[in-house]
Amino acid sequence: MAWPRFEWSLEPNDLSLLLQAKRAAGTPIIDLTESNPTRAGFQYPAEIAAALGTPASLLYEPSPWGLPSAREAVARVHDVDPSRVMITASTSESYSFLFKLLCGPGDEVLVPAPSYPLFEFLAKLECAQVRPYPLVYDGSRWQIDFQGLESALTKRTQAICVVNPNNPTGSYLKRDEADRLVSVAASRGIPILSDEVFSSYPLTDDPTRVETLAGVTEVPTFCLSGLSKMAGLPQMKAGWIVVSAPEAARERLELIADTFLSVSAPVQHALPRLLESGADVRGQIRRRTAANLEWLLATGLESLAVEGGWYVVVPLPAHLAEAEFTLQLLEEQDTLVQPGFFYDFAEEPYAVVSLLASADRFQEGIRRLHLLLG
Ligand SMILES: Cc1ncc(COP(=O)(O)O)c(C=O)c1O
Repeated sequence: MAWPRFEWSLEPNDLSLLLQAKRAAGTPIIDLTESNPTRAGFQYPAEIAAALGTPASLLYEPSPWGLPSAREAVARVHDVDPSRVMITASTSESYSFLFKLLCGPGDEVLVPAPSYPLFEFLAKLECAQVRPYPLVYDGSRWQIDFQGLESALTKRTQAICVVNPNNPTGSYLKRDEADRLVSVAASRGIPILSDEVFSSYPLTDDPTRVETLAGVTEVPTFCLSGLSKMAGLPQMKAGWIVVSAPEAARERLELIADTFLSVSAPVQHALPRLLESGADVRGQIRRRTAANLEWLLATGLESLAVEGGWYVVVPLPAHLAEAEFTLQLLEEQDTLVQPGFFYDFAEEPYAVVSLLASADRFQEGIRRLHLLLG
C-alpha cells in the first residue's frame, strides 16, 4: 500500500517515549501541557449529564445543518441568524468540511505560524497543502505580518485561516488588523476561516480586540467554534460553523454534511442546555487560567504577552535547545511542557505552558521549571 496522504512518521518522539516510560513506572507527572478540561478538576454541573437523557433523541431526524433547536441555541450565543449556523461533530470536523468545500488536491490554505499544530494534518488528510504566514512579536504583542501573508498567497490559495485568539500565542486580532485581513482576502476573493474556539477566554481588557469575524460580509467567511472549549466539554463532540457565504457555497456545504450526518441526536437536543450549563464551566476555567497566569507572572518567570486562551509562551535562555530542555525537565523534574517547535515558531527556544492545571499542580510545575532554568 502506498499511503499517499501520509507524510508523517508514526514513530513516537523522544518526549512521548520518555513520558510513556515514566507513566509505566508509576511516576507522578506534573502535566503543564494539559488541554483537556475534563481531567483538570473542574466541577461539572449534574445538569450536563441529565441534558443528554431526553426521549426526543429516540427519533432520528436527519438534518445536514443540524436540528433547528441546536442551531437556534448557537445563533443566540453568537447573535446571528440561525440560518447561518451549521452544527458539526467538532471544530476538526468543521475544518474537514471546509477544506473539502474549498480545496482540490494540491490546493493551498494559508495558516498562521506559530499556531495550532493540527492544521497540517487536517489539510493534508483532505489532500490540501498548508502554507504558513508569519505572526510576529514586537516585544509586547503578536500581529500578522501582512507582507509575509501576501507573499505566501499563490494561485492555489483557497482559504486564509486565522485563529483568534491564537493557540499558543494567545493573541487576538485587533480592529485594524481584522480590517486589513478582510480587505486582503476580499481583494483576491479568498474565503476566511476564523477559528474562534478560545474567543470567550480573554485574559486582558482591550477595546481594540475583535472577538469574531461573524459580521464580515465582504468575502465568504466561516467562523468556527464548539462546545469543546466554549463549554469545557470536548467529549460531547459538538462544534459549529457560522457561515457567511453565497448560496452556491451553502448548498455544497450542505451536501458534504448530508454525506456524513455525523452529529448525534442526543447532543443536538441537549445543546441549548449544555451551552447554558457550560457557562458555569467556562467561568471556572476563566478564573483558573487568570489566577494561574497571575501567579506565574508574580514568580518573575519570563513569558511573552498573552491576551487570551489557555496557554502561555515561555522564552528559554538562548543557549538551551527546546527538545533537550523539555526532555530534561521531564527526566529530572517529572514535569511536562511542550517545545515551541510543535507550534512552528520562527525562532527558538520557547516552551509552551498550559494554564489549565489546578493551582497546586500548576504552581509546583512552575517551581520545577524555575529550578531547571536556574
Ligand atoms: C485552535 C484550536 N482549534 C480547534 C481545536 C479543537 O476543537 P475540537 O475539539 O472542537 O475539534 C483546538 C483544540 O485544542 C484548538 O486549539
